[in-house]
Amino acid sequence: NADQLADSPLRDKHVVVTAGGTREPIDPVRFLSNRSSGRQGAALAEAALKAGAQKVTLVNVNMEVPLPEGVEEVKVSSTLELEKALDELFDSLDVLIMCAAVSDYRPAVVSEEKLKKTASDTFSLELVKNPDLLAQLGARPREGKVLVGFAAETAGGQAGLDFAKRKIQAKQADLLVYNQVGNEQGFGDRPNQVQVINRQGEILGQAAGSKQLVAEKIIEIIINQSILKDA
Ligand code: CTP
Ligand code: CA
Repeated sequence: NADQLADSPLRDKHVVVTAGGTREPIDPVRFLSNRSSGRQGAALAEAALKAGAQKVTLVNVNMEVPLPEGVEEVKVSSTLELEKALDELFDSLDVLIMCAAVSDYRPAVVSEEKLKKTASDTFSLELVKNPDLLAQLGARPREGKVLVGFAAETAGGQAGLDFAKRKIQAKQADLLVYNQVGNEQGFGDRPNQVQVINRQGEILGQAAGSKQLVAEKIIEIIINQSILKDA
């Protein structure tokens, strides 16, 4: 209700959520991408608004679902475009939720002409590494900001959790949402199952169920970060 929203630790906070998956152009009609639909990110943006955030910016990275009402949209497609958008948003944001699936590599050369089929039976595409956006932001001074990463791992159980612990350290994020993905699990209109860990590797909470439910739990855990409460 209105009283609770006025008391929300997010009432004067700008929350930025990246959602969807990057597309790395190959030529004018082709790209490399991934299966992230943007549903979890859309649910997170909506949950942040419901929790009383002053402003929610949704960085729409080729999302396949509609954006929730009330968010500000910034539209990008490739990793390098996302890098620029985040660079522009960084100073003003208080919470960054890096839910978008960012391509680790992009084609070394983007052809200006549509590539033609050749006589060869094989074709190789040279890729170069993309910048790690979360790690770059994690390395910046960021007093009062909370950075939240996601880790989709196909490894389950302890192995998956160990990857997640290494990731949060490497990227210097404050929280990491660990999400086991499979052929179907975790993608599209399917329930999600996550654990949220902190830099120490402690599990702060877990949630299983709809992307809405998971989003609400993640926002609740973010709100409980002392850095937001004490401000
Ligand atoms: N991420 C990013 N920039 C990249 C790659 C990933 O900002 N170039 C972010 C993602 O948005 C996510 C987090 O880093 O919040 C973890 O992404 P993930 O792909 O799980 O981790 P990687 O470090 O890329 O490791 P790997 O793919 O080898 O598991
Ligand atoms: Ca990756």
